[in-house]
Formats: sequence, structure tokens, C-alpha cells
Amino acid sequence: MMLEYSAYIILLIQIVLIHESTASLFSDECLRHGLKSYYDPTTDSCWIVETTPFTYDQAKSHCNHMPGYDGHLAFPKTLNHSWILYTKLGAPDSWIGLQHFGSSTTVSNKSEWYWTYPDGRKEIAADALWKGSYPTTGECAMSSGNNVNSLYSTACTAIPAKFICQYDSSTAHHETTLEHKCKQQNQWFWWNDDKSCLLLDTLMRYPLYAQLMCTHIPGYRGHLVFIKTIEKMNALNAFRNAAVSPYYFWTGLNRDKNMTSGKAGLFWRRFDGYKEGFNLNAFLPGQTSHLDTPGADNMFSWTDYFEDWYDAGWAWTLCEYEETLRYAPTLLDIQCASLSLPHLYYQGSCYVRQESSVTYDVAKKFCTHIDGFNGRLAVLHNSELVRLMYFTLTLPTGGADSTHVGLERLNTTGAADTGYYWILGNGQTLPVTDFTPFYPGHPNGKICTILSNYYLTTYECTYQRPFICEYVEPTKGTHFRINANTANMKAIPQFILKVYDDLTLQESCGYQCTKEPDCRSIVYNEKTRNCLLQSVDSNMLYVKSANIVSAPGYTWYDRY
Ligand SMILES: *[C@@H]1O[C@H](CO)[C@@H](O)[C@H](O)[C@H]1NC(C)=O
Ligand SMILES: *[C@@H]1O[C@H](CO)[C@@H](O)[C@H](O)[C@H]1NC(C)=O
Ligand SMILES: *[C@@H]1O[C@H](CO)[C@@H](O)[C@H](O)[C@H]1NC(C)=O
Ligand SMILES: *[C@@H]1O[C@H](CO)[C@@H](O)[C@H](O)[C@H]1NC(C)=O
Repeated sequence: MMLEYSAYIILLIQIVLIHESTASLFSDECLRHGLKSYYDPTTDSCWIVETTPFTYDQAKSHCNHMPGYDGHLAFPKTLNHSWILYTKLGAPDSWIGLQHFGSSTTVSNKSEWYWTYPDGRKEIAADALWKGSYPTTGECAMSSGNNVNSLYSTACTAIPAKFICQYDSSTAHHETTLEHKCKQQNQWFWWNDDKSCLLLDTLMRYPLYAQLMCTHIPGYRGHLVFIKTIEKMNALNAFRNAAVSPYYFWTGLNRDKNMTSGKAGLFWRRFDGYKEGFNLNAFLPGQTSHLDTPGADNMFSWTDYFEDWYDAGWAWTLCEYEETLRYAPTLLDIQCASLSLPHLYYQGSCYVRQESSVTYDVAKKFCTHIDGFNGRLAVLHNSELVRLMYFTLTLPTGGADSTHVGLERLNTTGAADTGYYWILGNGQTLPVTDFTPFYPGHPNGKICTILSNYYLTTYECTYQRPFICEYVEPTKGTHFRINANTANMKAIPQFILKVYDDLTLQESCGYQCTKEPDCRSIVYNEKTRNCLLQSVDSNMLYVKSANIVSAPGYTWYDRY
């Protein structure tokens, strides 16, 4: 029912969008973009000045802000165009779509200059209206600083400048909901070849945690970016360079463990866990170094190459959302994504970090960021969750490294390390059974608990600290999702919590799992009716594939 309703809403939005783009005239739409736009009837195109200063390469990939049309840096081919740029748009000394291809010593050869599109297509521009003796130096072109003659050349990396985008009415297309959403946001980047929207998160994270952040657009499954063409690599490089102090970003490219050569075993990890093999030599035959450290099996991208790095490497996160990877988002999923505080939507919970330093009792009352989802201080009942909070919400945000979480000593009659319970909310509690996330010497009898780095420590409740709240899907932990990628596999014995020998149904196996807080997945063998409850899920196995062993006949289901 919920799903049908969402589909209906999406359909409604699409109808409204389609209606909008056909019902209004292109010229009106163009002028709606403000004072700095001009509709040119001779070429039936819309010219828009972008005033954020960029270098040429950055500018080239930023003509994507007119929803429903593909843009490129402007092609002022006639004298009247120069006049328009100068008088109508007030845009002298701005980048245009004219570029030199050849040796940098032959810039003066006008036959080597081309009108260029962001996807690499180009048209010869031998008769471009150059000013005076230009082109002289530099391989990129700008509009003239005066009204008279028109274009001149300069270095592409010269001081960042304004740029002029041109949108041709012939490129009109019915845009999808994702495209529309993406183009409305200045910091998001639409990559038309893959019909995908890209978002750059400039906090530093380890790759395992970086991939978990890709939940920005509810309704579209995100993954670390896939880069399978040179055009995309160049465009993303320019996109990244538009940020302050550009840095490396993680891609979805990984290497199988224990390879003997750096370029072997490369694959793209898809959102559903499947691997897609990747032949680097076919893609970048020129890349000879940078991928030479098997063991450092995560790849980031820099200018025109991939580089490998270890699990404990820092980089930015570039998430990609594809039109085809749709799902019906839950209300909590949507509300979580809309929060401006640091947050993480993970396995049916939305975790939110609140920076205000308060006592435990105050913190407990202020898990009110989202209504109606059993707001509580975070319940982090195993080491994975404790590390997850530290490496996603604490370390990257630069906040204080200790926070209140929802663990209390409710029964003080026994030994100092007894009587501790996770506070689940609605009067429910969960006794602590897993002490591995505690710092040595803890719990020590103090009533309240603080997450300190990636350990739990017990303290006086009067300590003032920031806190982490958790909002929970009503169905959290009661569903199981088959993970085909780990079929015929089970966890190694250390991660098996319980074994049932004769459960007639996979559903009964799942039911046993829901009764164990630490149960993260099950494997079930239909023939032998053997059921194993495991404390790992396939997401965690992502980097720790040594934790699974072959087990023919078993099917793996993750709990969520
Ligand atoms: C350029 O074209 C516009 C109409 O698009 C016209 O109003 C203007 O007079 C023309 N300018 C020149 C210099 O030809
Ligand atoms: C200019 O470039 C064109 C195209 O590459 C080439 O055919 C021509 O020979 C060049 N002219 C000179 C004078 O080098
Ligand atoms: C409190 O702890 C003591 C000692 O471990 C135990 O005997 C007692 O039953 C506990 N009380 C409750 C209410 O659980
Ligand atoms: C990789 O090699 C190490 C050391 O030889 C070994 O312990 C580990 O199990 C291997 N991992 C896989 C996935 O084969």
C-alpha cells in the first residue's frame, strides 16, 4: 500500500514536470534565470552568465543548471554574439567554449581551435572572430574586454573567471525526477551519460565508512562513484577542483584480497554487493604506476589516474545516485536525509550527533530531532556500532571525541561491572552482554556511559558532553534480505552465535535471529534445515572477506 502510494506521488511529480517543460516557451524559461540571461533568437539558445569564478576546466563542467536542457560554454560565433556578451550580458573576460587542441607551441594556428562540448565533442572553429593578433598564447578563449572585436586566448589555468553558458533549445528532453532534483542544487553535479547525480562530501573518512554515507537522496540507492570513461574522469576532476583545497575522493573501485599484481583483481562494488570486473589497461593504457600496492585495495581518483590506498586511508566521499537504482524510501529515511546536523541512516536507524554539551539527564530528553520514531540516546551494543559512530559521526566532523550514549547502570547491588542496561525507550531495556566495546577497566560502577573514541567508558552522569541520538524504524531488525553475493558462504566460527539443527523454514531461522540483539545475519541450508545465527552482515564483510568461509548449500540473509 505504502509503495503504491509513493509510486503515485512520483508519477504525479513527473506529470507536473513534463507539463511545465512543454507548456512554457523556451525563451520565457531562459529569461526566468534572472538578469544575467539572454535568449538569442538567431540560434534559438539561452545564454546565462555564471559569476562564480572558475578555471576553464571547472567552468566547462558547470553548464548544467537549466533543468531539461544540456548546456556547454557559449559559442559566440558572430559579431552580434560578441555584442550580446558585452552589452546584454555584461560579461567581458569570461570563459567561452573555444579551445586549442594540438601542441602548445602552435596556438597561433587557427585551424587547431574548436568549439567544444563538455562530453568531448568538438567542431572546428577556424573562422572564430579573434581580436587583433590573437590567438597568441594560452589554449583557452575568453570574451573580449571591450565592445569592438571579440575573442582572445589565455592560459586555461589563468585566474578563475566568470563564464558564459549556452543552452540550445534543440537539447530539450523530458527530465527525470532525479535530474530535476540534481539540477536544482548548486553543489550537486548531473552526469548525463550515466543519468546520475553526484554529491561530494568533503569530510575525511576511511573507505568502509565513506560508502555508508551515500544516503543523501532518499529513493535512490547511492554508491561510491563509478568512473568508467575518461570523459567522466575529467569532468569529476573539474567538479572536485571547484571545491576549496581539492582533495582525493574514494571511488567504488576495489581490488580482491591477496593479488600478486596491482592491476589484477580490480572490480567495481555495486550497491547490492555484486562485483563488476574492471580492466584498467583497456581504460587507461597510459597509467603505469599508482596502482602497485596489493593490500591497499581501495582506490581513489586524482586528475587522470587511480591510486590505491589502505583501509585506514583518509579521503573525501563522492557518492553517485542513479536513475535506475530506485526504491520506495521510508518516512524516517526521508526525514534523516533532510537533517542539517551530522547524521547517518544505517540499517533501520537514523543516528544524529548533537554538539551541545549537556549532562546525561538533559541529553536524554533532547532526542527530539525527528518525531514519532522512538527517539533515544544511541544504543550501540557491539563493537561494530561503536566504531561506526566514531568513524562516521565523530572523527570526521571534528567534534569532541566523547559523547553520551544510551547505557545506564540500573541495578547497583552487584559487583561494579554488573547491572548495566541499554535504554531502548518506551520503558524497554536490554542487558549488556557484549563487553568488548568497553575500554579496559570499564564498566567501573559509575552510572552513565560515554562513547570515548571507539570505546565505551562509564562516568558520572553530571559530565557535560555532546550526545548521539537514535531514531528507529518500527520494523527494524525484523526483515531479512537475501544476499546473493555471499551465497554458499557462512561466517567463520568466531562469528556464529547459535546453531539450530532442524528448523523447517528459513523464516523460523530469521525469527530466532530477531530474538538476539547481536544477530546480524543468518545462513540457512534448505536441504539439511541447518540454521546459523551470525554476528556479521555482508556490509561488514565488504572489507573483511577473510571472515567468511565456503559453505555449499547455504544461503545468506542480512537482517535489517
Ligand atoms: C544583434 O541582434 C539583436 C537581436 O537579436 C539586435 O537587436 C541587435 O541590433 C543586433 N546587433 C547588431 C550589432 O547587429
Ligand atoms: C594548422 O593546423 C592544421 C590542422 O592541424 C594543419 O593541417 C596545418 O598544416 C597547420 N598549419 C600550419 C601553418 O602549421
Ligand atoms: C540486581 O543485581 C543483583 C546482583 O547481581 C541480583 O541478585 C538481583 O536479582 C538484581 N535485581 C534485579 C531487579 O534484576
Ligand atoms: C590473504 O593472505 C593472508 C596471509 O597469507 C591470509 O591470512 C588471508 O586469509 C588471505 N585472505 C584471503 C581472502 O584469501
